[in-house]
Amino acid sequence: MLDKMGRQIEYLRVSITDRCNLRCVYCMPENGIEQVAHDDILSFDELYRVIKETTNLGIKKVRITGGEPLVRKGIIPFIKRIKDIEGIEEVCLTTNGILLLDYMDQLYEAGLDRINISLDTFNCDKYKSITRRDGLHKVLEAIDLGVKKGFKRIKVNTVIIKELNYEEIEEFVNLVEKYDIDVRFIELMPIGEGKDYTPTSNDEIKEIIKRNRNLYPVYSKKGAGPAKYYKTNGAKGRIGFISAMSHEFCQECNRIRITSEGFLKLCLHSKRGIDLRQLLRSKIDDHELGYIIREAVENKPDRHHFNENSEDQDNRLMSQIGG
Ligand code: GTP
Ligand code: 5AD
Ligand code: SF4
Repeated sequence: MLDKMGRQIEYLRVSITDRCNLRCVYCMPENGIEQVAHDDILSFDELYRVIKETTNLGIKKVRITGGEPLVRKGIIPFIKRIKDIEGIEEVCLTTNGILLLDYMDQLYEAGLDRINISLDTFNCDKYKSITRRDGLHKVLEAIDLGVKKGFKRIKVNTVIIKELNYEEIEEFVNLVEKYDIDVRFIELMPIGEGKDYTPTSNDEIKEIIKRNRNLYPVYSKKGAGPAKYYKTNGAKGRIGFISAMSHEFCQECNRIRITSEGFLKLCLHSKRGIDLRQLLRSKIDDHELGYIIREAVENKPDRHHFNENSEDQDNRLMSQIGG
């Protein structure tokens, strides 16, 4: 499905919950956020219906996000159902990795294709201070097991923040020298708690890596997502840079999102979108639902406005949007 800018939209990110078992300081307040009532969250049947309708419009890839998606009961049969939809080529998951060891086999058997795991430090104490919880060893074990299990790709997502983990940049490079995975440095976006921290630009991270290594760009398929990939000599895996703040990639955007409350978001940063929950619960038929989604996508915002004061800005937190 094409939007009015000619962008091919084929990737749907589905946040199945805004709850999380961690409290990363740049993402969630210590006491969490006001929880959405159970009835206000779309049921798996409702989510399935939306996904199915979007595949008729050209969606081929679905990524399940949260909060932390593995805290929602029923995720395994849900993944199985989505995998079986005609037209769906890949189902992927973004997780903080805490519950991944418990679910790894079931996820693999359900047909999950790819897993992105969030990790900001290799130091136990620092992990506790960043996430306000324990569990680094579980995440590291999950990365190790995930690689051996045979998923199409394991990616690690890292946000480098001056006050928190700036001195660990090279440790993340060591990880792609050990495993054939991708480590992606995501620039901190000024969303919610993230506004209180000092971001590190990806250009600065590249300079730090280049002090001791040869860092060279590698080809990545057009439309393969916002990351630009690099390698270091002898590394098994790749280093990716998601530079939303310093090198906007909106003109290549191929995605839309749905929040756990059923709001169809057309851009991570914009509040523009449609309350699908209300429509789904008003007995709308599939044809009308498809038409409304199609029309909304056509008017997807051109770009984000993080660097400006925009009225279009969404007040949702990252844990409610799902990244
Ligand atoms: P793949 O390319 O399929 O691996 O997925 P992804 O990188 O889009 O998924 P992931 O959930 O790992 O996203 C990583 C992070 O990239 C998100 O949490 C966001 O911080 C950022 N990101 C993803 N999509 C967008 C986008 O459309 N706009 C902006 N500004 N940031 C995005
Ligand atoms: N800016 C950029 N990335 C963020 N994440 C959470 N909050 C922000 C933010 N403000 C990241 C997490 C996780 C991914 C899903 O989103 O670190 O890796
Ligand atoms: Fe941390 Fe992700 Fe949970 Fe936010 S949603 S608190 S980044 S694990």
